[in-house]
Amino acid sequence: MKKYKIGIVGATGAVGQEIIHLLEKREFPVAEARLLASPRSAGREIQACGNLEVVKKTDSDSFKNLDIAIFSAGSKNTVNFAEAARKSNCVVIDNSSAFRMNKDVPLVIPEINGDVLESHRGIIANPNCSTAVALMGLYPLHKRFGLKRFFSSTYQAVSGAGAEGVVELENQIKKQISNKPLTDSSGAESVFQHPIAFNLIPHIDEFREDGYTKEELKMRNETRKILDIPSIQVSCTCVRVPVLRAHSISINAEFDSPVNVPDARTALENFVGVELWDAPNASKYPMPINYSQKELCGIGRLRLDHGFTNGLAFWVVGDQLWKGAALNAVQIAEELIARKCLINL
Ligand code: A2P
Repeated sequence: MKKYKIGIVGATGAVGQEIIHLLEKREFPVAEARLLASPRSAGREIQACGNLEVVKKTDSDSFKNLDIAIFSAGSKNTVNFAEAARKSNCVVIDNSSAFRMNKDVPLVIPEINGDVLESHRGIIANPNCSTAVALMGLYPLHKRFGLKRFFSSTYQAVSGAGAEGVVELENQIKKQISNKPLTDSSGAESVFQHPIAFNLIPHIDEFREDGYTKEELKMRNETRKILDIPSIQVSCTCVRVPVLRAHSISINAEFDSPVNVPDARTALENFVGVELWDAPNASKYPMPINYSQKELCGIGRLRLDHGFTNGLAFWVVGDQLWKGAALNAVQIAEELIARKCLINL
């Protein structure tokens, strides 16, 4: 079996570490795992894909002889280095929002629109974490009933803000228990705008003039692109919650065709990548603690929506570091190989 040279930009970060883990777990055919990060991490040693690898600083020469580079180091670093990778004939799979809405860049969830990979030009974007988890539930229902519009509220875990978000929540919980002030007046703790322990913060990313945040607009714009329904109406409210890992999303969706729960259940049961976890009388529904480090997204609380004529309400939970980032990126790499469209620059 052919093996591939793969670079991981942001290998020391929360998503980068999950990428290494998933390459190993899924037995991705790795010939070389090149770990790239900021100059601060250069020289660190990390076990990856069977070898002890030395982390290197990222520069425009970092991509020589690589087949694929998965970027998880924020938009600025993607903008700085993606073109250098492409010029080295290395296909970029990017977790940031830098190029997601660029018309020449496929935005891909392999189970939904893997076919668009065939027209890539060297850079492929991974969707926003909440969009990816939401669409894993919405897409099979869209195929069955035709999606018209939807409303959603997200409950996003602190690890979505990187490894520092987790440290901030853990520190604040310890302080609360020992009756110390939750936030440091020196501003030393600054990942979130307010205390996150024992709190909810309805504010993720920057506010726009229309009152939505950029994160909330990603749900609308990326859904339009991935499902190829340019006019679909979407309204989303994103909330940071004191959960360590896995995002949960409440969705109320309206469809073109008449809906019914048995057919909706069948559509979800037949879709790879999700599981129906839905027996309310037995208190069975997906929760973040059950869907952390899990490849499948869980769907529950499925019911007819009283707010629409043809509506369904449901609750979907998925590990945002996996299906919302690292897993989806590794699946894109697998799909590029399966479709024989790795070099397409
Ligand atoms: P480093 O650990 O050297 O700072 P997280 O999302 O968990 O905060 O992780 C961000 C990732 O992006 C880290 O791996 C970080 O590396 C990496 N990163 C930050 N700045 C750069 C840069 N200038 N070049 C390459 N990687 C970077």
